[in-house]
Amino acid sequence: MYKIAIIGFGVVGQGFAGLLESKAEVLRKEHGLEIRLVAIADSQKGSVVDPEGIEIAELLAWARDGKSLNLFPGKEHGLDAVATIERCGADIVFEASWTDIKTAEPATTHIRRALAQGMHVVTTNKGPLALHAHKLLAEAKDRGLELRFEGTVMSGTPLLNLARYCLAGCQISEIRGILNGTTNFILTQMSEGGSYGEALKTAQDLGYAEAVPDADVLGWDALAKVCILANTVFGAEITPDPKTLTCVGITGISAEDIEAARKAGQVYKLIGRVWREDGRVQVSVSPQRVPQEDPLAGVSGAGNALTFTTDVLGEVTIKGPGAGKIPTGYAMLVDLLDIHRALTCRKGD
Ligand code: HSE
Repeated sequence: MYKIAIIGFGVVGQGFAGLLESKAEVLRKEHGLEIRLVAIADSQKGSVVDPEGIEIAELLAWARDGKSLNLFPGKEHGLDAVATIERCGADIVFEASWTDIKTAEPATTHIRRALAQGMHVVTTNKGPLALHAHKLLAEAKDRGLELRFEGTVMSGTPLLNLARYCLAGCQISEIRGILNGTTNFILTQMSEGGSYGEALKTAQDLGYAEAVPDADVLGWDALAKVCILANTVFGAEITPDPKTLTCVGITGISAEDIEAARKAGQVYKLIGRVWREDGRVQVSVSPQRVPQEDPLAGVSGAGNALTFTTDVLGEVTIKGPGAGKIPTGYAMLVDLLDIHRALTCRKGD
């Protein structure tokens, strides 16, 4: 049985909690995994700590009604995220707080506090992995702890785990694809005659867009994701600085550009790319005209897709959701299972 804490109880935190509830029996019966939720903290909604366990269905109903977590039945209330981590006694902390890809805070502080307390960590937060992957992974390793972050790229679509486990015997020379759901949604809507403004508004309403949508439409979110891939799959150390790296968003793409591409049998996609050149790892993000026969061309709406170019298998493409409450919550569930497997393995069970 693992005691867990959730830091950040917005769309992703609630998506994860919902899956813990709906999948509880599967987790127990098929994976021998039981959890006790001992703390939740959210900068807007308040916090509750209870070592005896927090009833998840009740908690979700509470959050749906917009009630403060400070009033939810429990032992301690009103702590900030760091104090919650320090006082909750969890085995695993699930970090899903507000994403800031420029400073990676407060998420990095949450992760480091949890590791310092001897807690394993799962995060879907892109900032810490885009800016500090090596340091955080080293910190976890030095302490004998697990740090997982599947949801940082392509949400619950098993992209990082695909690279980490299934492509482990391959040399990957390039990763190229659609990494931002909001911009793919906007480009798809525009290709169907919709306007940029309306499409962005819908993406915001559907919860795909970042709090500040500049991060999506200017390419910064996709850049953070290619840097996570560069740093964790290719072992590079690249900081996602849009001023020094090739990073072009979709704001310059007009309805006329999209129509011209369509007449030529092509579609516009915001393409993120990581590749090796002259022994160095390179990254870029830019809108490109993709031919219809490319597997990326048919990826519409908020979908994401990536093609790995490998020595053994040639091209391997994975397509799936890249954002949203349940897909991103699912990434946390899968990371929980992966940590459970790793810890079970250590014990030699
Ligand atoms: N704003 C991001 C997107 C969310 O649209 O892809 C998922 O990282």
